Amino acid sequence: MFMRREEKKGYVSDFIDEANLKGNEYALVCGPPAMFKPVINQLKKNGIENEKIYLSIERRMKCGIGKCGHCIVGGEYYTCIDGPVFNYKAYKKAEKIKL
Ligand code: FES
Repeated sequence: MFMRREEKKGYVSDFIDEANLKGNEYALVCGPPAMFKPVINQLKKNGIENEKIYLSIERRMKCGIGKCGHCIVGGEYYTCIDGPVFNYKAYKKAEKIKL
């Protein structure tokens, strides 16, 4: 979904309904982690399945070379090595989160 900055103001989650999604699209989500939950909830309400949502979680990274452990997802994956983009379904399973 692309919008000109001056056309709309608000959170991106407020505009997902206007995108007229059909449910067969893929969503790539980046930005502040606090926005992930409302965006994912809106995507799901518009028929986008977890398998079609991808999250960029590079904000977890510190060293960026697999040494500090700051970016570990679910005790198993390193964002800096295995990511930084993860499929939401796999991310949710690894982190045992409920969104
Ligand atoms: S950023 Fe340090 S281990 Fe990934």
